Amino acid sequence: MDKLRITGGKPLEGEVRVSGAKNAALPIMCAALLADKPLALSNVPQLTDISTAVKLLGQMGVAVERHADGRMTLDAKKITNRVAPYELVKTMRASVLVLGPLLARFGEARVSLPGGCAIGSRPVDQHIKGLQAMGAAITIEHGYMNARAERLRGTRIVMDMVTVTGTENLMMAAALAEGSTVLENAAREPEVVDLANCLVAMGACIEGAGTDVIRIEGVSSLSGTEHQVMPDRIETGTFLAAAAAAGGAIRLSGAAPESLDATLEKLRQAGAKIATGKDSIDLEMSGRPAAVSVRTAPYPGFATDMQAQLMALATVASGTAEITETIFENRMMHALELQRLGADITIHGTTAVVKGVRKLQGATVMATDLRASAGLVIAGLVAQGETLVDRIYHLDRGYEALERKFGALGARIERVH
Ligand code: EPU
Repeated sequence: MDKLRITGGKPLEGEVRVSGAKNAALPIMCAALLADKPLALSNVPQLTDISTAVKLLGQMGVAVERHADGRMTLDAKKITNRVAPYELVKTMRASVLVLGPLLARFGEARVSLPGGCAIGSRPVDQHIKGLQAMGAAITIEHGYMNARAERLRGTRIVMDMVTVTGTENLMMAAALAEGSTVLENAAREPEVVDLANCLVAMGACIEGAGTDVIRIEGVSSLSGTEHQVMPDRIETGTFLAAAAAAGGAIRLSGAAPESLDATLEKLRQAGAKIATGKDSIDLEMSGRPAAVSVRTAPYPGFATDMQAQLMALATVASGTAEITETIFENRMMHALELQRLGADITIHGTTAVVKGVRKLQGATVMATDLRASAGLVIAGLVAQGETLVDRIYHLDRGYEALERKFGALGARIERVH
């Protein structure tokens, strides 16, 4: 199994280009199922999660052409089966995003229930509840959701909590439903907006994406289009947090600064000098970071996907930070690994109290999920000596060429087999 070997203690200097957003590309690829004409995408990142989505859509009959430069064409003209099998859904929960599109276009779908997850229980009851409100009959049999509907009907849906993929699934389903749908308490994440923009370009009528009320007027069919996937705000934030922890001066190009307000605010509080351009972010950091507390929240609040990276920063900050996770009930596993590097962290329920230490020491650590791994890489970059990050298949799911990009910033980091 591959590992990352990091020799810490070197400031980061230079420029890297941000990749396309994983969490925008995945729902947008599933949106291809809504039309019988090709969807041509660009800026699709090279990640194992994207390969899983290609496999999932491919086994349904979608013709996928994938190019090394990030272009991808998906043609869902001929769909031969409407099943998302357990083998794929268990490796990637976002596979559940085929449910809404399949049901809306074909009137049936059979999608494995995702089951448990390392960071929390993550049920999909809101996806089911919303589709049922639109007239679908959904039964759970042998671990699968079997969904049927003659034609989905628009309605008003108030979601119990803010759910990103739940909002996306229902927005895609509503795009082809009869009549109007109003999604209340909808997720406001930029990835929801990127999906909505793509759907509108395909012929959908959607208003309010980016607010908590989204109105969708169903149409009878959608067409193909061309769409450029938005920049990955979490990848961007990860590099910025790394430079804030390790020191130095970096520029991120191809970024979407306006999607990172909460993260930039926290990094500024930590002492980083940040300047944003239209699609670039410059960060300069000298000296020890100041401790900053964060509390995760749905967008535009501080992203749960940046929590582990900010915890890594807090381990070497001057002062004490409180890091509170409110979205997922078990997303603190990286704290225990950070302790192995010498961090001073105490967990009280869903809050980690992090007392900054002057130095971390390298050690072997292993990650439990994607963003936890990113936190451990940041800690490795500031630790004295060598850190080995194990189980980096998690990182490969969501960070394109991570070691090459950090290498371009001067970090001593390599993949070992
Ligand atoms: N929830 C329910 N019922 C539902 C749906 C969600 O109780 O039907 C709960 C979840 O258990 C959680 C909260 O609602 O406590 C929010 O979960 P959400 O549905 O928003 O998460 P998601 O859509 O499954 C997406 C991202 C995650 C990111 C979260 C939160 C994608 C493909 N995934 O997941 O990304 O952490 O939103 O922002 O968009 C990652 O990239 O590492 C990652 C985990």
